[in-house]
Amino acid sequence: MTRSVVRGIGSALPRRIMKNAEFEKLVDTTDEWIVQRTGIRQRHIASEDETTASLGEAAARAALDSAGLTPADIDMIILATSTPNNTFPATAVEIQERLGMSGGFAFDMQAVCSGFVYAVTTADLYIRGGQAKRMLVIGSETFSRILDWTDRTTCVLFGDGAGAVVLEAQDGEAALDQRGVIASSLRSDGSQRDKLYVDGGPSTTCTVGHLRMQGREVFKHAVGMITDVIEDVFAKAGITAEDIDWFVPHQANRRIIDASAKKLGIAEEKVVVTVDLHGNTSAASVPLALSVAVERGQIKKGDLVLLEAMGGGFTWGAVLVRW
Ligand code: ACO
Repeated sequence: MTRSVVRGIGSALPRRIMKNAEFEKLVDTTDEWIVQRTGIRQRHIASEDETTASLGEAAARAALDSAGLTPADIDMIILATSTPNNTFPATAVEIQERLGMSGGFAFDMQAVCSGFVYAVTTADLYIRGGQAKRMLVIGSETFSRILDWTDRTTCVLFGDGAGAVVLEAQDGEAALDQRGVIASSLRSDGSQRDKLYVDGGPSTTCTVGHLRMQGREVFKHAVGMITDVIEDVFAKAGITAEDIDWFVPHQANRRIIDASAKKLGIAEEKVVVTVDLHGNTSAASVPLALSVAVERGQIKKGDLVLLEAMGGGFTWGAVLVRW
């Protein structure tokens, strides 16, 4: 049986770091409020010359380096993003061009903060279906460009960045101890889309628009939705929370991360947390956190890693990977 094995990982962050204290000059907020309510201490903000495509390219190159591969070895790119460089063509094809690839194919996937989890699930199906052998799965975002910088309830929460993995088709058994993607579970519920959305778009306002969120409402739904897909993944793989080596959740809010881990019975020391450093980077948050966890020496080859995300739509999902 063909499996999708993680062969490389990389990330990229904008040069500029913005600490919470800077927001005290922009809106009615404090460093203390932001840390207490969210766990965020700083985020990276893209300068004019840094875009979703340039950050995605840098993360992709880092992932290729760690895999010992070149762009010529890749036959497919999926870019998870809600902040593309242009409405079309897909930013993934711009990354393909930036990488100097003359073959293969590339497309964008939009599931907001769940984008990377959706993209890994999709990539795994392409690999198992024999459509691709080695692919780049990238999450890259510049949410700073769609924030209302006068709205204290949203502007303090997000940051920019990118993360990428190289997935490779390898032969293996359908066993839990084999490396690769093991199980996944995706969900969406369009009836909740007014809780978290962008108030513009090409077919409605002809503008880009700004992010709007009913934070308390999103918070209320988050833990329940996350545990629902994770329990589904556990059932598919025939495991329990105790079997997990690392839990890499979407990095939106420290309180959501802690409450989900507690509800699922995942020990605190197995939870990867980077929200303090990056804020919420939407589709980039899970691959960025993975990349940091590998750099820190937390996630090692052979570990059982659980990825999870939820975001606008609502969309949510989980993926179990033997690293
Ligand atoms: N500084 C100071 N006060 C603030 C700020 C701020 N930056 N933002 C809001 N407040 C105020 C509110 O106005 C409110 O004041 P009031 O009581 O006078 O009305 C008070 O703080 C409490 O507001 P709540 O919204 O109830 O605060 P809460 O504890 O829920 O925290 C937060 C807000 C951080 C947004 C939280 O609800 C949250 O994290 N929600 C989920 C976000 C999320 O997970 N998104 C995931 C997906 S993101 C995506 O898909 C793009």
